[in-house]
Amino acid sequence: MAVQIRPTGKEVFFPAGELIVSKTDLKGRITYANRTFCHIAGYTEAELLGQPHSLIRHPDMPRAVFRLVWDTIAAGREIFGYVKNMARSGDHYWVFAHITPSFDEHGNIVAYHSNRRMPDPSVVASAIAPLYAEVLRVEQGHANGKQAVEAGLKALTDFVASKKVSYDELMFALQSAA
Ligand SMILES: Cc1cc2nc3c(=O)[nH]c(=O)nc-3n(C[C@H](O)[C@H](O)[C@H](O)COP(=O)(O)O)c2cc1C
Repeated sequence: MAVQIRPTGKEVFFPAGELIVSKTDLKGRITYANRTFCHIAGYTEAELLGQPHSLIRHPDMPRAVFRLVWDTIAAGREIFGYVKNMARSGDHYWVFAHITPSFDEHGNIVAYHSNRRMPDPSVVASAIAPLYAEVLRVEQGHANGKQAVEAGLKALTDFVASKKVSYDELMFALQSAA
């Protein structure tokens, strides 16, 4: 499925009462996808299983966001955040995601799990999309991938610090203002 998908710029939505659910192995390969995920992303479950979750990565997403996700979940903690995803058609859909590690009985991380619901479109438009565009712009100013992600992460954490709250508090303040 290594076909290059071009973003169409068209936003699509899933019903507010539904959750998009997926599970992955430790490397982020999809091991479970619910019906809402398959439907909005435009893939069958069989097509999704075994694929890297980056299959639905949208090029507008800054790398720093995913660095923050992976650093947090690999350390055994949960994270909430906004993600712009790309369907098979190239259309995009925004989600408010909760990503968590799953543990075995010895406390080892054995998998990851994510539930996503529809974010408030006005929060995405007024706060998140402009923030991510700025972080992406910062990242694109660096030819070196490692430096790009570090600079993006700094832009992201500086923004959170400027609001004088923690990252988690900011995510919840935005989502619950909805
Ligand atoms: C449980 C779980 C759910 C994820 N969900 C998404 C998602 O919805 N969209 C996305 O682009 N990346 C998601 N990711 C992150 C991807 O694994 C990947 O890091 C990201 O798409 C960036 O791709 P890259 O790491 O190849 O640059 C998820 C990861 C995990 C562990």
